Amino acid sequence: MSKTVFVTGGAGFIGSAVVRQLIAETDWRVVNIDKLTYAGNLDSLPGVMGHPRHVFEQVDICDAKEVARLFRDYQPAAIMHLAAESHVDRSIDGPAAFIETNIIGTYTLLEAARNYWNGLPGPAKEAFRFHHVSTDEVYGTLGDTGLFTEETPYAPNSPYSASKASSDHLVRAWHHTYGLPVVTTNCSNNYGPFQFPEKLIPLVILNALAGKPLPIYGKGDNVRDWLYVEDHAQALRLVMEQGRVGEVYNIGGHNERTNLEVVQAICAILDELVPDSAHRPHAQLITYVKDRPGHDQRYAIDADKIDRDLGWKPQETFESGLRKTVEWNLANQAWVHNVTSGAYREWVSKQYGT
Ligand code: NAD
Ligand code: TYD
Repeated sequence: MSKTVFVTGGAGFIGSAVVRQLIAETDWRVVNIDKLTYAGNLDSLPGVMGHPRHVFEQVDICDAKEVARLFRDYQPAAIMHLAAESHVDRSIDGPAAFIETNIIGTYTLLEAARNYWNGLPGPAKEAFRFHHVSTDEVYGTLGDTGLFTEETPYAPNSPYSASKASSDHLVRAWHHTYGLPVVTTNCSNNYGPFQFPEKLIPLVILNALAGKPLPIYGKGDNVRDWLYVEDHAQALRLVMEQGRVGEVYNIGGHNERTNLEVVQAICAILDELVPDSAHRPHAQLITYVKDRPGHDQRYAIDADKIDRDLGWKPQETFESGLRKTVEWNLANQAWVHNVTSGAYREWVSKQYGT
């Protein structure tokens, strides 16, 4: 019989990529645990909903009783924890949900996992993994030079990154104090199919297609280190299956770009792919807006450790990944429309009875 892995946040952007890969490329049975917030969408799981090795559970990870039930019912061999509130701007507008899900939710999962793990027989107890998925934003901001390594001190600057840093510390403590077999990954900015259009890349594609302004915060010189989501999902599976207990792995794509460069690249691809657009050249839509409060200047990852220890390298270049992402958005306007309109919820509940 297949071993069972829990994926929390498996209806979100990265979680759905992880679930699609686990179903398509492995024998794992996946229990997909997601509250279905505005960011969770079951139609990000084509070929997965209804698959015999996939079970969907609409559960809030802060609900201790329900989380305990899931461990009892499904007896997982591993858990990949991705469920989170993930958008920095939302965390600035309203931090409460970030404290709740990212901190209390992680604590709730850790306690349920510890309780379950304590009752496992020897070999299963040793093999169990709690994989915590986090962000490079916990390290704060870089100047013009340098890279984040696994040893970089934590210095989170936004409510989002502070809540993720807090969850990382809880995971570390549950290993150090109780011996729970954990592994943590900290990844740079992801992009790709099924990303909710509030994040820079899908937002710019959506707005450009509609002829709306493309908002650039401040001068557009902030730098992010971009990783294609399928590459991240491969790295996560590798760490879940082969990562060393108690270790932290940084994951990144070696793709530093200023925000202005990213937006200009999207505009150039759209100019080419939508030649009859009334909005060409799309770069004319670029609009400088008020900067984000506390805006981190630069993120960049040193991903040597995961390459050296586990043999992971990203497959996609930024150019190839960005083109695929724009093409995906053009071909999937219905998905974009569904997730950004209220109609989406009714559609999901009819479709899947949730
Ligand atoms: P996302 O916002 O697209 O998805 C989050 C998912 O979690 C959604 O499906 C949502 O419904 C679910 N969720 C939220 N609160 C929940 C709760 N209380 N209980 C159960 N489910 C809940 O996020 P994402 O971009 O896919 O990020 C996934 C993880 O990866 C997060 O932990 C994030 O911090 C981390 N991460 C993201 C990036 C990035 O660039 N997006 C980079 C590095 C790390
Ligand atoms: P975002 O996609 O929100 O990811 P994060 O804040 O986690 O890095 O933003 C990426 C970068 O793009 C960040 O420097 C903020 C900037 N940005 C804009 O300039 N305009 C926008 O409309 C958005 C959403 C982000």
